[in-house]
Amino acid sequence: MTGVIVIGKTGQLARALANRAAHHNIKITSFGRSDCDLSAGSTVIEQFANQLPACDGIILAAAYTAVDAAEDDRDAAFQVNGVAPGIFAKACAARDIPLVHISTDYVFPGDGNTPLTPDADTDPVNAYGDSKLAGEISVSTSGARAAILRTSWVFDGDGKNFMTTMLRLAQDRDALNIVADQFGRPTYAGDLADASLVAIKKLIIDRKFDGGTYHVSGTGPVINWADFADAIFTKAISRIPHTVNVGRIPSSAYPTPAKRPSYSVMDTSKFEREFSHALPSWEAGLDAAYQVWAKRA
Ligand SMILES: NC(=O)c1ccc[n+]([C@@H]2O[C@H](COP(=O)([O-])OP(=O)(O)OC[C@H]3O[C@@H](n4cnc5c(N)ncnc54)[C@H](OP(=O)(O)O)[C@@H]3O)[C@@H](O)[C@H]2O)c1
Repeated sequence: MTGVIVIGKTGQLARALANRAAHHNIKITSFGRSDCDLSAGSTVIEQFANQLPACDGIILAAAYTAVDAAEDDRDAAFQVNGVAPGIFAKACAARDIPLVHISTDYVFPGDGNTPLTPDADTDPVNAYGDSKLAGEISVSTSGARAAILRTSWVFDGDGKNFMTTMLRLAQDRDALNIVADQFGRPTYAGDLADASLVAIKKLIIDRKFDGGTYHVSGTGPVINWADFADAIFTKAISRIPHTVNVGRIPSSAYPTPAKRPSYSVMDTSKFEREFSHALPSWEAGLDAAYQVWAKRA
């Protein structure tokens, strides 16, 4: 069985990787914050990365994901998202093992209106996006054979995310105002895990394949956050005690410390073509996540 190390243990993707690995005939060994705090100095991370057990490949699933907090905490966000991935990538290059690194749609400025291909111009509008772009650069210049997978709007049925927040709020609110001028496509963590495992497997098996930068999101309709809330409430109709009216508001009516891109829809065709892997729709992902949520609620 192929042995893959995952950096990250408790996050949405890390948990989904642990759940999905056996379907890909992969054995996962996960390392979390208690094994190595990625905001620690580079020397600590270097020592940890260079002493990892033997494996066939590494997936970086941990990240500083608090988009608003990153505005005032730039150093930690840059250390975790910008510097640490480069250290792991250099360790991979030195040991000749491949790497899958996860990045974000927030590397884009979001001022367009057609799906973004992986070679579209980047220009983040917030500190989190800046830090993730720094991570992409440090991985792609490390000499490692690496696939960088940019994803968007990640959700599952049992983590802390937009879907579970909406379902929690809906229990005692019958009206919610949700931003309706940011467009994207949600990604079910299980589908992102499958894509990451497909990618690492190809890098392990095909040693002539150098990887590159790819877009991985749910396919299906382009939506805004208010549309997503509506879809979530429709799905959970039997578990919500009343109708929830979704008010559609502009981002300007919901000020946040970090600006968000208005349009970050990603064209996933390069990933689907090069890895011969069809990405499921976010609607199918919502079904799957809802089943998980409903069992626990
Ligand atoms: N969530 C999204 O909507 C979204 C959108 C686009 C891209 N992405 C990218 O997708 C990837 C997976 O995200 P996710 O949704 O699984 O994130 P998540 O659920 O927020 O999990 C983040 C993980 O990173 C770990 N982490 C954070 N700071 C750390 C540190 N200093 N040292 C060690 N571990 C640390 C967290 O550990 P603790 O539990 O100990 O804090 C947690 O396990 C990330 O690269 C993220 O940037 C996510």
